[in-house]
Amino acid sequence: MILEQFGAQAWDKTLSAADLDDAILVSVQSYPDDVTFRLISAAAATAGLTVEDTLHAFGRHWVRASAQGPYAGVLQILGTSLLESLNNLDQMHASIQLAMPGAQLPQFSVLSQDDRSIRLAYYSKRAGLESFVCGLLDGMLEKFATPGFVEFSGQDGDARIFTITLAEPDAA
Ligand code: HEM
Repeated sequence: MILEQFGAQAWDKTLSAADLDDAILVSVQSYPDDVTFRLISAAAATAGLTVEDTLHAFGRHWVRASAQGPYAGVLQILGTSLLESLNNLDQMHASIQLAMPGAQLPQFSVLSQDDRSIRLAYYSKRAGLESFVCGLLDGMLEKFATPGFVEFSGQDGDARIFTITLAEPDAA
């Protein structure tokens, strides 16, 4: 996202601000969460955004970027609608786990749904990624050209709850 929006020099500056060398960022290899969070903070400084806004922007970017890159097929078979995609997320992430045994993938469960909203539970061992999840879900709304908005609605035990409110369909 930094490369695309700000160019190679900004990416090099971001890496050095995070005290990293991009040799650690190898496709389909895991790296410590500490690296991720250092990169996010440095990227936020480069972009002039808060960490939360950077996480949100990166969630949206990930959906857009993965629709074009090597993960395009994965995203395509995830589903033909928002709801179908959300219901298939765990299975998709589980298949990725086979290629990346070190990955700690999240879990999602659709709690309820009607014409106007979807309530989704998110489970993760990681803290602090709620804005990333909101951005990913916003990216999914965009992917399916579904007008609506996403909110983090709080914690219920281990579950972190997100509410997707769908825009009222145009009166025909
Ligand atoms: C092509 C599509 C996708 C691929 C290939 C993919 C793959 C991955 C991988 C490899 C990780 C890193 C796990 C680790 O290293 O520990 C990850 C994390 C994550 N994924 Fe996906 N994912 C995709 C789409 C999505 C979508 C659409 C959502 C949600 C709407 C989502 C939610 C998350 C979240 C929240 C994390 C952060 C890890 C955590 O919460 O602990 N992913 N995913």
